Amino acid sequence: MKPFSFFLVTDPHYFELSLGGEGEAYEARSRTDQKCVAETGAIIDSGFADIAADSETDTVLIPGDLVYRGEQASHEGFIKKLEKLEQAGKKIYIITARHDYAGNPCGFVGNECIPVEGTPRENLRSLYYHYGFEQAISEHKKSMSYTVQLTDSIRLLALNCDGDCKDFKGLWDDQIEWALEQIKDAHESGNYIFAMTHYPLLPFSPVMNMIGDAKLTDWEKLANTFADAGLDLIFTGHMHAQAVTDYTTQKGNMITDVQTGCFVGCPCAYRRVTFRDDGVDIKSYTIEDFDWDKGGRTAEEYFRWRFDRMITDIIDAMAYDFAFFTRLFGGPEKNKKLRIPVTLVGKILQKLTVRGLGRLLFFKVDDSIADRLVKDLAVELVRNIFIGDEPYTKGTPVYEAVEKMLKRLRPVIRIIEKKAGAKNPLLADIPAFVLSMIGDEKKRDCNTTLNIDWQRFKKA
Ligand SMILES: [Fe+2]
Ligand SMILES: [Fe+2]
Repeated sequence: MKPFSFFLVTDPHYFELSLGGEGEAYEARSRTDQKCVAETGAIIDSGFADIAADSETDTVLIPGDLVYRGEQASHEGFIKKLEKLEQAGKKIYIITARHDYAGNPCGFVGNECIPVEGTPRENLRSLYYHYGFEQAISEHKKSMSYTVQLTDSIRLLALNCDGDCKDFKGLWDDQIEWALEQIKDAHESGNYIFAMTHYPLLPFSPVMNMIGDAKLTDWEKLANTFADAGLDLIFTGHMHAQAVTDYTTQKGNMITDVQTGCFVGCPCAYRRVTFRDDGVDIKSYTIEDFDWDKGGRTAEEYFRWRFDRMITDIIDAMAYDFAFFTRLFGGPEKNKKLRIPVTLVGKILQKLTVRGLGRLLFFKVDDSIADRLVKDLAVELVRNIFIGDEPYTKGTPVYEAVEKMLKRLRPVIRIIEKKAGAKNPLLADIPAFVLSMIGDEKKRDCNTTLNIDWQRFKKA
């Protein structure tokens, strides 16, 4: 059978630069952001040009966070980019998410954020009508979800998960009912159906279990319901991270969540997904270059620099700007007592190497990593979670060093485990928890083939 493929692009967060994207206010905002903002137009143009050039793939899916913070002008600019992609022969299907209507839409001029026109959520369906809603074979209008027929035997279930637009980031009961009908109807009519939603269905790393915003509210209920109904594949975004995660229900049904990194934030990833006779092939790409003054950096170096400074700024503030540091965690008054210890730790971290840490805690480190600054390594470990395929597995010098450090800190860790472990079972074994985040034995976050028999519903 002829393979079918599509591109998956998520979280393009387009920002219309004519609203104003430079100066003090812009810098202050963008420094705390992992993703690019002013650069999004140039990055999207570059990525969309690469996608347009692939003549074998005519479908593009975009599961939400289309613009930066709901600016009407950003939506209009982004739709122009979609029109260009469409003129290159692509069929585009989107869903919207919270960044498409919520937030604080403004332009950045000098040291001011100037409010600009936002976009009410109820306007989004008509704005993007042409990109999914128009082709829908069924729609759940209240939630702005729909189903489309992608090929003669494959359907897409596009599930909006705005929930109550507040704390509940999930699917309403009647929306779940509708989705289950879609799955049943697809199967009975000889179609394979997969889903896309903005929020991840599954927490992709142990730490994501602890972050409320890292997955759909009621994710376990949904994963069980959908997998037991025969849905086995879902494409998601939102966390700006690359991950492929499986979940198996008590009845033995598996669902795989393919979460794709942000199109405009390190590693600026997108995927090409191909349905072949032997399974579903997932391949990742990144934006190789884009038209911007990158200060002599390659695109990859630029994206990493943008990501890293979000964290290094915090470490630097510990040492040199306590007021900024405390503002991030609740205000200076509240944290006055912490000024001396935080500043001390911050200053030590400015110079502490892995060798120095080893000496401090009496463990030997491999020469290959001895001269690295601990803060640089820490930033890299966080960055690796987002890039996926975390490299520091058992046997690597970094794994050994982290393992030894955790052993030395055992007495302190035991106290934390007792307290925190009672509330959260994941923290009952902190060394295992930490080590599981720095090394991924499976290495399937970026490229993999899923063993899915998507032709099993086809009628003879
Ligand atoms: Fe996002
Ligand atoms: Fe999001």
